Amino acid sequence: MLIHLSSWPEIDARLNTTKTVVVPIGSNEQHGPTGLLGTDWLCPEIIAHAAEKQDESLVVAPTFNIGMAQHHLAFAGTISLRPSTFMAAITDWVSSLSRHGFERIYFLNGHGGNVATIEATFAEIYAEWSFVEEQPPFVLKLKNWWDLPGVHSFCTKMFPTGHGMHATPSEIAVTQAAYPELVKTADLDPKIAPVGPIRDALDYRARFPDGRIGSDPLQASPEKGQQIIDVAVPALLRDVADFSAEALP
Ligand code: NI
Repeated sequence: MLIHLSSWPEIDARLNTTKTVVVPIGSNEQHGPTGLLGTDWLCPEIIAHAAEKQDESLVVAPTFNIGMAQHHLAFAGTISLRPSTFMAAITDWVSSLSRHGFERIYFLNGHGGNVATIEATFAEIYAEWSFVEEQPPFVLKLKNWWDLPGVHSFCTKMFPTGHGMHATPSEIAVTQAAYPELVKTADLDPKIAPVGPIRDALDYRARFPDGRIGSDPLQASPEKGQQIIDVAVPALLRDVADFSAEALP
């Protein structure tokens, strides 16, 4: 069940049988000359929506599609939040979902740059309850889609060279599987992008002129993306089921 394509009585009724909700979360940022700007929010959305198609009992929230992308701001189309804005917004999403009765909130993340801030947000939220010696009415979980069991090893086996860290062939392949009409090409020089530290936007643009880090995204194809989705979907359904069944003290 997708929240944004449901009515409130439908969500109200579903809360009688499930207290878990999956929130795809990512970032809207440059992904090299061929990658879609939405790659990091599209990947968790594509995987979560495919999982919901297989198991309609899965409740999926709208995608939280803007995140920590200040270092990509020297590339057109990138939209970023400050960490403080991101934390405030996640907190309000959690409060809204909790208010309706969702007790287990599972963030399926598509952007490595979001991880530290999401974890800091969880700590801020939990601290409010810890200080007053009360249990929060919810538990939170963060999982990167590539960390779902079996996914990362499948991707690195599929792309043994030029997988890299940003604008990877695996994430671009996942978007190509969902949007094959948007497959793009470009002359990439060098074929495999350089690697280095991530700092501010101008430093990033100078080190990684076309936006990629360590990757050769031209290895991506819609067929390879579908294979990755086919590994990720059952892994997500299992991980969410385990989270839902986890005994709480
Ligand atoms: Ni990405």
